[in-house]
Amino acid sequence: MKPIEEQVVVITGASSGIGRAVALGFARRRASLVLAARNEAALDEVVREVERLGGRALAVRTDVSEWQQVKRLADAAEARFGRIDTWINNAGINEHATVADMTIEEIERIIQVDLMGYIYGMKAALEPMRRRRQGAIINVASIVSLRAAPLHAPYVASKHGIAGFTEALRMELVHEKMPIRLTMVMPSFIDTPLFLNSRSRLGVQPRPVPPVYSPETVVESVLFAAEHPRRDIIVGGQGALVALLQRISPALLDRLMVAGGLMFRTQKTDKPDNGYDNLYQPTPGTGSVTGAWTDESLSYSWYTRHIEHYPHRKLLLLGALGAAACLALRPRPARLDGL
Ligand SMILES: NC(=O)c1ccc[n+]([C@@H]2O[C@H](COP(=O)([O-])OP(=O)(O)OC[C@H]3O[C@@H](n4cnc5c(N)ncnc54)[C@H](OP(=O)(O)O)[C@@H]3O)[C@@H](O)[C@H]2O)c1
Repeated sequence: MKPIEEQVVVITGASSGIGRAVALGFARRRASLVLAARNEAALDEVVREVERLGGRALAVRTDVSEWQQVKRLADAAEARFGRIDTWINNAGINEHATVADMTIEEIERIIQVDLMGYIYGMKAALEPMRRRRQGAIINVASIVSLRAAPLHAPYVASKHGIAGFTEALRMELVHEKMPIRLTMVMPSFIDTPLFLNSRSRLGVQPRPVPPVYSPETVVESVLFAAEHPRRDIIVGGQGALVALLQRISPALLDRLMVAGGLMFRTQKTDKPDNGYDNLYQPTPGTGSVTGAWTDESLSYSWYTRHIEHYPHRKLLLLGALGAAACLALRPRPARLDGL
């Protein structure tokens, strides 16, 4: 894989949150960027920030729920920079509500943006990458790709769908010896405007479940994946623990997550909902990287930086945990005291 400095990188959802932070991260490394989202004013602001950092960027207004627009984005990237080295699917929306409270239209819209938007991105990136027999596609999925959480079922379904589509496509590329890398980056809960942009039927403003991580934690893993071929990267130790428990006993995890209403309580603030959402139109203004939880967010994840990025270390850690569990649970000989 080329050094980031030599890469042409397309990023969807670059006007806000993780996508915007990732764009600035690539700009600091002098990559050439093509930035997509619906809010043109916010995209133009990101282009200016990229240029201040010494990078160069093209903004392409794109609604990822429309195949033709995503195809046009890929064409614009090739026309401007001649190739696409890394394509980052990241644009996403959410709604916080029970399935009973959501309309079918809302469910369809979330799946159209959060799943079909990623599928369109993969399809659009593949054509130019296949022609050059090189490239990397990074899908910013979520820890809910591995383990569901209540109160946003269509979002969870989309993230599970991304995992399945990515895995199937990866096998096809391996089968035909096509050197295009596919990585899923799966963040835990991150301090971004996602929760302020979410449609809420909870009666209150939703929030990320603690511990909350900074967008920079995701930037670090996305940039790492752009230079090092990795299959999956979980961002945040909390997510890794959830993924481990899911492997050991999904039924136990169900109980832990609903015990005392845990995953229902922790996704709510006590503030009234702000009353807007970005399901069908972008949030007005020039956007921002962070949400409303910067004071409590962890600036980096030791686990992700030192373990998750290196699969052999992860294997060693899992082996050590398994051995410790076997030792702790081994049958002990009956005590013969008093005989
Ligand atoms: N924050 C978290 O806790 C968290 C955790 C795990 C995974 N993620 C994932 O990270 C990704 C980025 O989310 P975020 O947290 O950074 O949220 P965010 O701040 O709300 O950013 C979402 C981005 O997606 C864009 N977008 C939404 N609908 C779009 C559409 N139809 N077409 C094109 N762009 C669209 C938005 O731009 P416009 O409104 O300008 O179009 C914005 O740039 C999402 O896929 C999310 O699922 C987030």
